[in-house]
Amino acid sequence: MKIIRSPAAITAWSERLRCEGVTIGFVPTMGALHEGHRSLIRQARLQCDALVVSIFVNPTQFGPQEDLSKYPRPISQDRAICRQEGVDVCFEPTAKAMYPAGFQTTVTVPTVARRWEGEARPHHFQGVATVVTKLFGMVRPHRALFGQKDFQQSVLVQRLVTDLNLGVDIVIRPTVREQDGLAMSSRNVYLSPNERHRAVTLYKSLQAGAAVIRTGETDAKAVRSAMAQVINQESSITIDYLAVCDPRTLEPVSSVTSRVVLLGAIRLGSVRLIDNLLAAVPRRSS
Ligand code: PAF
Repeated sequence: MKIIRSPAAITAWSERLRCEGVTIGFVPTMGALHEGHRSLIRQARLQCDALVVSIFVNPTQFGPQEDLSKYPRPISQDRAICRQEGVDVCFEPTAKAMYPAGFQTTVTVPTVARRWEGEARPHHFQGVATVVTKLFGMVRPHRALFGQKDFQQSVLVQRLVTDLNLGVDIVIRPTVREQDGLAMSSRNVYLSPNERHRAVTLYKSLQAGAAVIRTGETDAKAVRSAMAQVINQESSITIDYLAVCDPRTLEPVSSVTSRVVLLGAIRLGSVRLIDNLLAAVPRRSS
């Protein structure tokens, strides 16, 4: 496995392979790789001839009060996972190479980024959209894989690729969960054993919402209140948001008439967790 740090070198590598007709798969990450990343990498390996994983803790998607400096960076472990999964190139640019002096162009996807995570983390999605656009420009992949865990991010990336004609095929893969259902996340390492035990409450709340929809409930308020009820049983968890939304626009719906996405964010001590679940009203048999 090659480790490439310079943007010019990854572009040269990619261009050479593209000329030979090789399809390039790409999994962008911020490192601290877990089973969720591993499943994206495995899928990309199956779908493409050559595979690049980027490891870059992107400073521009962190707010001033967020965890940029303490974000986990187990680089040797990350490289070992990439090697085990047959990654061809681990692209590890420096912040200086990504944002050299004079850098000033940003990418925004305003409507998709407006609500939910965008409200809680005001500059987050501009940072994500800009870095993903830059990484695509450097790596020039045919296909890039993202996890459903960051649902709003996945909608945003699809929108920006379409709007800017980036020509990258975007594949969204299902969330990988711990045995109790907690969505895998690099930030789960921040949970104390006691918080870890209670963290699954968010998934249980989403499941409660989906179960109510399966019984035929179409009132989004009733679905949301079934979700809130589960969280409210745990006095030390606070709800950031719970929402029943259209999965394409992320706008809240008042009535569940087709497929919806249930979105949730909670705070557990100093840790903020997000998760989501797709749900649909049962089809009536005639
Ligand atoms: O999902 C992530 O890990 C990051 O937001 C991404 C897409 C790698 C951009 O920094």
